[in-house]
Amino acid sequence: MRVLGIETSCDETAAAVVGRDRHGRPAILANVVLSQIEAHEAFGGVVPEIAARAHLSALDHVIEAAMRDAGMPLSRLDAIAATAGPGLIGGLMVGLMTAKGLAAGLGKPFLAINHLEGHALTARLTDDLAFPYLLLLVSGGHTQIVCVSGVGAYERWATTIDDALGEAFDKTAKLLALGFPGGPAVEKAALDGDPARFALPRPLSGQATLNFSFSGLKTALRMEAERLAPLSARDVADLCAAFQQAVGDVLVDRAGRAMARFGERFAQVAAPALVVAGGVAANVVLRAGLEALAFSRGWRFVAPPLHLCGDNGAVVAWAGLERCERGETSPLSFAPRSRWPLDETAEAVIGAGRRGAKA
Ligand code: KG4
Ligand code: ZN
Repeated sequence: MRVLGIETSCDETAAAVVGRDRHGRPAILANVVLSQIEAHEAFGGVVPEIAARAHLSALDHVIEAAMRDAGMPLSRLDAIAATAGPGLIGGLMVGLMTAKGLAAGLGKPFLAINHLEGHALTARLTDDLAFPYLLLLVSGGHTQIVCVSGVGAYERWATTIDDALGEAFDKTAKLLALGFPGGPAVEKAALDGDPARFALPRPLSGQATLNFSFSGLKTALRMEAERLAPLSARDVADLCAAFQQAVGDVLVDRAGRAMARFGERFAQVAAPALVVAGGVAANVVLRAGLEALAFSRGWRFVAPPLHLCGDNGAVVAWAGLERCERGETSPLSFAPRSRWPLDETAEAVIGAGRRGAKA
């Protein structure tokens, strides 16, 4: 089975081909990611209309490059998958229409994929991980703890009650004039910083809820920055280090509680796994903290390689392959969804509107 995956939900135009090798193990045959960072840099964030136009002009070429890397014609594909949500509607329409056109023209099955499912199943692509596992999904738009017990079986145990973690990194970077995207910039600045200089809060830590909150941490950092302004390079480094340390402590506290709950629920699972995924999972310090937590409890720790943490086509293709193998396809009438919760039964925590729950 060979599946083409198309990703256009935010600011990466991406296409990939995944399949299984002779032994049935997952294999990435091509993975092309074209970042639009430069197109948005001057605006300090992703501009939806610019993103949609950039996807439109680049996507055909990105798909061509992926097929060239995979060394096969489109006709040898078994299915075409594309992110159908959640994300920016213009970009989603570009990817979805392209995928539908290819599927219709080639007479192949089409699969509309939830972007979050792509992140949620990445550990199965990279590590052939068996269900169930506990997932910490940390990206620009989402911060969730999800109990993953099968394809399509996602129970959301926690979410953020305000900012997503990637968003908190991006806003912190903006405040400290570190540029966009913020996560990698904060991580880099923190390398030279002293995390102990500022006592920043660890929101919700120690509390029974598994949910996250980052707005208080962001405000505490802003108040320290305003108190010190103008900031020296040392101040910026120390603030970033303190922020990252606080975030790390929060993730370990929340994940630790969720692991206890998972242990009770799945007592028969001998070697449970803690999985981290999403753009923020590229952060080396946060990964190290979670890895130490997992090992201290005798759990496995699975984190995708850095190039599969951010948005890419391989994880979309993989989710498509998993669904296709189960005999599923999507109708060509499938409409893009700017909001599309992974667990549709979970209660909306930060509001819902006509288009559904925000997170
Ligand atoms: O998964 P992703 O590529 O896009 C979404 O689906 O949202 O995640 C992007 C987010 C951005 O907020 C970015 O600042 C953050 O991931 N990020 C990081 C790092 N690399 C990317 N955050 C912290 N540390 C990093 N090294
Ligand atoms: Zn993502």
